[in-house]
Amino acid sequence: MNKMQLLDGKKTAEDIKSEIAVEVQKIKADGGKVPHLAAVIVGNDGASLTYVGSKVRSCQQIGFESTLVSMPDTISEDELLSKIKELNEDDNLDGFIVQLPLPKHIDEQKILMAIDPNKDVDGFHPANFGKMALEMETFLPATPFGIMQLLERYKVETSGKHTVVIGRSHIVGRPMSILMSRKGYPGDSTVTLTHSRTKNIEEFTKNADIIITALGVPNYLKADMVKDGVVIIDVGITRVPDDSNAKGYVITGDVDFENVSKKSSFITPVPGGVGPMTIAMLLKNTLLAREMRIAKNN
Ligand code: GUN
Repeated sequence: MNKMQLLDGKKTAEDIKSEIAVEVQKIKADGGKVPHLAAVIVGNDGASLTYVGSKVRSCQQIGFESTLVSMPDTISEDELLSKIKELNEDDNLDGFIVQLPLPKHIDEQKILMAIDPNKDVDGFHPANFGKMALEMETFLPATPFGIMQLLERYKVETSGKHTVVIGRSHIVGRPMSILMSRKGYPGDSTVTLTHSRTKNIEEFTKNADIIITALGVPNYLKADMVKDGVVIIDVGITRVPDDSNAKGYVITGDVDFENVSKKSSFITPVPGGVGPMTIAMLLKNTLLAREMRIAKNN
């Protein structure tokens, strides 16, 4: 039987936030200006409001300045673009994010392209995505960055391992496939990127040393689809209706945790795995944005 180890994202995220809080105290002690993050939210999607709320609360928790920009879902693309221009030019701001998804009448790509790459702490601008692929220093997208941190802090072996990524989204799957194939640690993996058109996915997952699922299908990955000793990173966070819960839903991952965990060497729980890491890494990127801005101005 494997000895399974939990990749505790909740604890690791708290550790990282404490480390950042120490940096903020140093900045204050030196009479500096603390990092400032803004989040733009368009409309009132429940999940998006929850995420953005947590991002702002975490800023307050560690001593960052934060600004929440709420816009109705009736705004035009041009109105959102002028808000972005304003944030790009705001010297009081180190970084900002535009929470996705955006309403259908707004071209997401056009919006992301309008963000100053130096303030793009989500790492979604093509200039930053390109730098990531070319192994240059930049903002890594927060969820993939969080996964890399978990692998590193738990000393999970990745070199020469077969990593199978499920899902090719621009936010998680695609960047994850790039990061795991980059030189160095964590990385140096042999990567297979699978997606909705992949045939016989289990032929890949059964041969995987590391599986990263970002699919959004509750309990999709079953024990008979993985080998003994596998490392499991579950990025799924689907709200499944549940009347016995006060919220009326439970957050459910892509992995049949109860059974898959028995075959795993390392596994992330849901909730408490990848989710909390995402916000911690956004804060880390904001701290980096501030440092890069100061370096550039000197
Ligand atoms: N929507 C889902 N994940 C993310 C994220 O990491 N950043 C932003 N801006 N929107 C998201």
